[in-house]
Amino acid sequence: MIRSQQAVPSAPGAQDSALAAQDSFDSFDSFDALMEITSRPGVVFVEGRGSWLRDQDGKDYLDFVQGWAVNCLGHCPEPITKAIAAQAARLLNCSPSFYSEPMIHLANLIARHSGLHRTFFANSGAEAIEGAIKLARKWGQRYRGGAYEIITMDHGFHGRTLAAMSASGKPQWEHLFEPKVPGFPKVQLNHIAQVERAITANTAAVMLERSRSRERPVCSSRPTRSCETCAR
Ligand SMILES: Cc1ncc(COP(=O)(O)O)c(C=O)c1O
Repeated sequence: MIRSQQAVPSAPGAQDSALAAQDSFDSFDSFDALMEITSRPGVVFVEGRGSWLRDQDGKDYLDFVQGWAVNCLGHCPEPITKAIAAQAARLLNCSPSFYSEPMIHLANLIARHSGLHRTFFANSGAEAIEGAIKLARKWGQRYRGGAYEIITMDHGFHGRTLAAMSASGKPQWEHLFEPKVPGFPKVQLNHIAQVERAITANTAAVMLERSRSRERPVCSSRPTRSCETCAR
């Protein structure tokens, strides 16, 4: 992240929202009221526009993250803020026990453009993975005599719920939050023979995500002192 004196380009209403955010940030507020889950720099951001973030002191930063993981859309893109504002004023937090208009519309758009038939909406990647795990286990229960194992890849990353962490192959997580959710035998990525050998009567599915954003890619070039990928 780069700090700059250049102003965050303003959008209509941005001044008001920045003032409101500054008003709501009380100097007596303490970082201690938040559970610490990761180490963060000691700045508090109040506004974002495109590639830029502004902190509570009005300092601007060029943000190379601009979101999170696969969801890097820049800060407050106008089509998204407009769509959210319009929908929030029309129908907000409709129970998932009912159909809602945007849910049907978006599922149809995804089906039309992806070639896939059905969408399961979730609030996070980890929940989507949980949905996939449940679906595979349901299939195993129904058609495979109770098969429940899902073969996953070493160094894979699937999110931070207990099952998603158990399915992930991050070495740093090996002894975290034990015991793990059972049923995720691991194999090496790109080793089809290993996958074949791991398949048993208990196998319901093989799972891998095409995006492996939380792991260093395996470097196929000859390692050098300055190789960023293999950190040698
Ligand atoms: C490949 C992959 N799978 C799953 C997840 C989990 O998504 P979320 O953080 O939305 O739960 C991420 C998040 O970084 C991811 O990169």
